[in-house]
Amino acid sequence: MSLGEDTASDRAKRLAGEVGDAVRPVAAAARDQVIPPGQDDPARIVLFRRVLLSPSRGSRRRTTIRRMSAAPDEAAAAAGVGDAAEVDAFAARIFQQVLDGMEALAVYVGDRLGLYRVLASGDALSIDEFARRTGMHPRYAREWLEQQAVSGILTAQDDGDVVRFRLPGAHAEVLADERSLAYTSPAARMLVAAASRLPELLEAYRGGGGVSWEQFGADARDAQGDMNRPWFERALGAALAGVPAVHEVLSRAGARLADVGCGHGWSTIALARAYPGAEVLGVDVDAPSLQAARLHAAGMPAVSFRLAAGEDLADLAGTRQNGRLDAAFIFEALHDMPDPVGVLRAIRDAVKDDGVVVVMDEAVADRFAPDGDEIDRIMYAYSLFICLPDSMSTPESVATGTVMRPATLDAYARAAGFSGTEVLPIDGFAAFRFYRLLV
Ligand SMILES: C[S@@+](CC[C@H](N)C(=O)[O-])C[C@H]1O[C@@H](n2cnc3c(N)ncnc32)[C@H](O)[C@@H]1O
Repeated sequence: MSLGEDTASDRAKRLAGEVGDAVRPVAAAARDQVIPPGQDDPARIVLFRRVLLSPSRGSRRRTTIRRMSAAPDEAAAAAGVGDAAEVDAFAARIFQQVLDGMEALAVYVGDRLGLYRVLASGDALSIDEFARRTGMHPRYAREWLEQQAVSGILTAQDDGDVVRFRLPGAHAEVLADERSLAYTSPAARMLVAAASRLPELLEAYRGGGGVSWEQFGADARDAQGDMNRPWFERALGAALAGVPAVHEVLSRAGARLADVGCGHGWSTIALARAYPGAEVLGVDVDAPSLQAARLHAAGMPAVSFRLAAGEDLADLAGTRQNGRLDAAFIFEALHDMPDPVGVLRAIRDAVKDDGVVVVMDEAVADRFAPDGDEIDRIMYAYSLFICLPDSMSTPESVATGTVMRPATLDAYARAAGFSGTEVLPIDGFAAFRFYRLLV
């Protein structure tokens, strides 16, 4: 090779430098235009924090690129940048997405190997101490610790002889405190559940089949259960108590309640704790979920679980022998069900005319818009990778998807024999909306 001739590595370095130079000013301009989260509504901010875990947000090297609107020319004009800058900014945005995705996988490692739980002690640990306490291979321990530090999750202090890594208290709450409303690390499990099924998903996108909840496996189940658990444990009782018409029914002596699509049972348990005079039946089609639910509810005689479809609720609840139920709930599950009208019809038959039926589902916008907010964005992503293929794994599914608009639910309710729906005044409950189905 003669002097002055580029090696592949030189060319790659130069290109990286050029891209960096082009992108940096655009990124800085875009960063300044980002709407401060404080101007949004609190429920959406909670979701933003819950779901779009972004450990390096606000840290020294974070680059936030404003999302392209439906009208790129207008966006470009408003931003005062030309096409080339727009291309660079968009390239930077896609790069940022890949970076965030890869870093989310590293969060998964910390979550699933119990690394954050060890670090939650607050101790500043050397690589060797950390490897000993976690049982992780020292070479991988070093790589993970350094990766966590450069991504802004851990702090690293070099005292000359040894570098010590520490998890700040606020980060420990988000990553390792399963009782906190800010607990967000399980979201990375949902990403992994989806990614590990991509071959089947691609097949389904072409052929119209699906990937079942069972196939998504423990990562999806555990993510779902653990993300909703603190909300049910800490906020459900107070939320329902704040709606007198619902609270009165649930407070009836000997009230009989059903929780359809109960998953890990945290909502079933929360209902029983909030209404100690009630009997609560959790129903789900997924056996491993119910196995976990039974463990969670051990020692609670008022709680029972049945492995069955919501479509069979009237029979399950023993309505012929015991009379009809006082209330039924579906928490973040109706949009997954292949036959939502069938389930709602069974609920309509099983619940007393003066009872209550409540559906908690995603607080998506009323209609599709290309500049949808973070809730619509994350729900479309969940829909594409988890909920829609899950629903479509059953033949003849109506294929609702995670983005179940209020009008869709209202149509399902009316088709099932209800007179309509109303939105309950429960705000700030993660990214959920509570609907009451009217008799
Ligand atoms: C997204 S998970 C929600 C679980 C739980 N409600 C929560 O909030 O964590 C949806 C649940 O609905 C269940 N499911 C789907 N179709 C059902 C049906 N027809 N009858 C009963 N459960 C069903 C699934 O097995 C899964 O556990």
